Amino acid sequence: MVSFSSLQISDDEKGYDPELFCIPKHYEEDLERVFIPHGLIMDRTERLARDIMKDMGGDHIVVLCVLKGGYKFFADLLDYIKALNRNHEESLPMTIDFIRLKSYCNDQTAEEVKVIGGDDLSSLAGKNILIVEDIVETGRTMKKLLKLLEGHKPQMVKVASLLLKRTPQSSGYRPDFVGFEIPDRFVVGYALDYNEHFRDLNHICVISDKGRQKYKV
Ligand code: HPA
Ligand code: MG
Repeated sequence: MVSFSSLQISDDEKGYDPELFCIPKHYEEDLERVFIPHGLIMDRTERLARDIMKDMGGDHIVVLCVLKGGYKFFADLLDYIKALNRNHEESLPMTIDFIRLKSYCNDQTAEEVKVIGGDDLSSLAGKNILIVEDIVETGRTMKKLLKLLEGHKPQMVKVASLLLKRTPQSSGYRPDFVGFEIPDRFVVGYALDYNEHFRDLNHICVISDKGRQKYKV
């Protein structure tokens, strides 16, 4: 059993002035800081692809993308795995599927988990599964999803999450592969949203008070 570490972003990390980066005009006033620049996300994702390959290589895997927030990380992670597959002796055959779970409203944690869409979960019997998520916060949703999947008797289930938030509400759950461990702050961008906004932003950012007000529901 290999254990992989993650990139730690400390509680006093200030991030960067958005003025120093390219931000869509429609979000110019809505962001406080750029927290994780897009380039760093990509570099870290490239390494995660290598770690996943090392850990799960050999057998066919079913990669389950958790929509909507996971789609950017999923697409970029798979591109890096595909690049490794093209250029190495060993390769990792993959099939993919997309699921949605009950999601967020404002900053509240949703209690219930329901899988919407995707193929029939019974097709996962005997398979090696990699779940790809954008962020794990309390870990409760992921634990519920894992329990649900276990009921369908897969051979193995692993989880890759781009972000893991350090929060007092954590259930103690840790994904197998983590891009960045971040402080307890609400972040958006790179497909992570605030009431469906900011998914169309390259960098992971912290919203300004103005942005929070503007997109409040
Ligand atoms: N941002 C966006 N979505 C989320 C977050 C966050 O910080 N935490 C859980 N879902
Ligand atoms: Mg998510």
